[in-house]
Amino acid sequence: MNLVESIASAIARLDIDEVQRQYFFQDEAVIIDSFIPEAELAPIVGKLDGLRSMMHRSRVPGIKKSSSVNRHVLDRAIPAVREMYQSPALVNFLNGLTDRKLQFCPQADPHTCTLYCYLDEGDYFAGHYDTNYYRGTRFTVLLGLVNDTQSKLVAELYKKDDSRENRVVEIALKPGTLVVFNCHRLYHWVTPLGKEEERIVLAMEYVTDPRRSRFQQLVSNIKDAVIYFGFKETFNPR
Ligand SMILES: [Fe+2]
Repeated sequence: MNLVESIASAIARLDIDEVQRQYFFQDEAVIIDSFIPEAELAPIVGKLDGLRSMMHRSRVPGIKKSSSVNRHVLDRAIPAVREMYQSPALVNFLNGLTDRKLQFCPQADPHTCTLYCYLDEGDYFAGHYDTNYYRGTRFTVLLGLVNDTQSKLVAELYKKDDSRENRVVEIALKPGTLVVFNCHRLYHWVTPLGKEEERIVLAMEYVTDPRRSRFQQLVSNIKDAVIYFGFKETFNPR
């Protein structure tokens, strides 16, 4: 079974109405444990060791310390990621879940599909909303790949909803766990990695309107260069 077939099967097993109920109850965020069986992630996980030298490490004091792999590298090294990102079954599921018509990010956006790699002791990401430089609303889809750690993704629900009390949720992004959220609504962070631990997550981005001005694209690229991928890979991908 290839990854596109695995995704279609995983979606077919879901109680879509219940997943959507949770998604909106949690202010446009949902966690689906064991979405894909770990063994079916082999088309991606089996290639991670070959990518070690391509993981760009960056440290921005007070913001983050970790490594990342951008979409241009993934397109070449693990085509299964792009096939999954673009698979009609996944897009249809996300359209129904979010009640939006989602579109792909432009080819030039290095953040379209990204590996977030927490590899060294103390790697972390401080609290933030995922920034958006598009005209439309942006959605993030996270898929756990490696989770040999006690480090967690922590989400603070309802931070933008004054009518509800905030709720903090700790999420272990185990292999095959899927998280979907509206970037503008979910405040989140990643707790520090312990010694000899490892945590690798695939992030996929969709937008309701992929248009952006040259200025927005420039700001987005500068942010990606500094925080994630380095200037060379962001502005002059191979
Ligand atoms: Fe984030």
